[in-house]
Amino acid sequence: MSKLTITTAPIEGQKPGTSGLRKKTRIFMGPHYLENFVQAMFDGIGGVAGKTLVVGGDGRYFNDRATQVILRMAAANGAAKVIAGQNALLSTPAASHLIRSMKTDGGVILSASHNPGGIDEDFGIKFNMSNGGPAPESVTNAMFARTKEIMAYHIWEATDVDLSTSGTSTLGEMLVEIVDPVAAYVDLMQTLFDFPAIKAMIQGGARIRFDAMNAITGPYAKAIIEDLLGAPTGSVVHGTPLPDFGGMHPDPNPTWAHELMAEMMGANAPAFGAASDGDGDRNMVVGPSCYVSPSDSLAVIAANAHLAPGYAQGLKGVARSMPTSAAVDRVAEALGIACYETPTGWKFFGNLLDDGRVTLCGEESFGTGSDHVREKDGVWAILMWLNIMAASGKSVPDLMQAHWAKFGRNYYSRHDFEAIESAKADALMAALRGSLDTLAAQQIGPFTVATADDYSYLDPVDGSTSAQQGVRVVFEGGARFVVRLSGTGTSGATLRLYLEKLDTANFDQDPQTALADVIAAAHEVIGIETFTGRTTPDVVT
Ligand code: G1P
Ligand code: ZN
Repeated sequence: MSKLTITTAPIEGQKPGTSGLRKKTRIFMGPHYLENFVQAMFDGIGGVAGKTLVVGGDGRYFNDRATQVILRMAAANGAAKVIAGQNALLSTPAASHLIRSMKTDGGVILSASHNPGGIDEDFGIKFNMSNGGPAPESVTNAMFARTKEIMAYHIWEATDVDLSTSGTSTLGEMLVEIVDPVAAYVDLMQTLFDFPAIKAMIQGGARIRFDAMNAITGPYAKAIIEDLLGAPTGSVVHGTPLPDFGGMHPDPNPTWAHELMAEMMGANAPAFGAASDGDGDRNMVVGPSCYVSPSDSLAVIAANAHLAPGYAQGLKGVARSMPTSAAVDRVAEALGIACYETPTGWKFFGNLLDDGRVTLCGEESFGTGSDHVREKDGVWAILMWLNIMAASGKSVPDLMQAHWAKFGRNYYSRHDFEAIESAKADALMAALRGSLDTLAAQQIGPFTVATADDYSYLDPVDGSTSAQQGVRVVFEGGARFVVRLSGTGTSGATLRLYLEKLDTANFDQDPQTALADVIAAAHEVIGIETFTGRTTPDVVT
């Protein structure tokens, strides 16, 4: 066994996006591709000599091989210790918790989140800092800069580490500790939620369906929902993580979690349905014949979090990404707490959480979480809902109706236009940005434009600025639409159109109907068909 220094050359395109570096798996498997990026990550955080890191991922194809490479590179770069999930598995929130609770210097998370897995699908890698949260842009920019100048990487020449059993071993001079990926996370959840009350509700007959979509949350959900909370075996479906997610697209939304949706919309539906994504940070909540939009879920949680023991003291403040609906703003106003607006991506919440400004954060993209970790957390959100139901005695539909009656309903939808040629998408955005100055006061259909701008964020904690975070057009009366390009895709461009309109009287419309005039106005302004030839979205959430 010896330390090798391998000559390499920069590889183009290793720029981390909204959530780390995401590419097709075969690209990651190409010569030096993973190694270059891992070395650049280590260099970008100032080296790993003497440091302790966490590593693990969502179990998708190449997760295990990549983990072995990262272990050998950490050893060769002088790391003191790496803590790895057994079989290289860790959900993203569980990794965030381990990084924090074991007082480490950060961690490497292997995942392409909700993107499909397999040799012909997607893989991803990202670095989380010692606070447990995704590296901020200053750090990912430093990593990207290193990828453009890298000439060599360090790797220990060794046989594979046995990742299948818990315990401690050595790799060169580095300690390797293999831990149960589920145990510490389950302990944390029990400090936050009233497990006896949820258990009593389930024993009282409330049926639960949790769809893990053949991804990482299966073992977590089985341990919590079936073993601890006593839901019958089989309440968790698709509960075994598979390298290709069994062909499922592990994105918990009505389109991809259609099996769960069909059951929840059918006769004799369970009292509560939920799903999570590839790496366990997203969630979808649905009641009998009652889909809960993520923006509404965030607002309901904000209004009721005090019912959970871990949040009985109330919330310090809340934060949402800019395209997320303003439903939570109305709750924050009623509670008299601060409400922050940030760009898309969980990394922007980190400073607000670390600074103690907010307790709760959320995004319209099925992400909700709190200051218990520094990632969004699917299982946490689901337990929060179960706790609220148990403590209030209300069903999901009753909770929604009561919420809208009090705060009004922010009708909301996101339309995704996928796999657009990048040049066409760029031209569309450039034209839209170019038209912003002339949009103000224009009449579009029944609406008058109040403001039109390209969102720029000034971080109130560290003073950094992030520009060009999405074009937003707000109409008089508050209806609005937002347009941005996805930063997590791996082929072509995905255009996201976010639509919102508040209604304080009428709560039972189909969101697409309620938003029809906003949708028409958005198409008129953006010219999606002119630029891309597309008239209808590929995914509607
Ligand atoms: C998407 C979501 C965003 C989320 C991210 C990671 O990013 O829109 O809210 O934080 O995935 O889960 P996008 O593809 O839009 O850049
Ligand atoms: Zn995810």
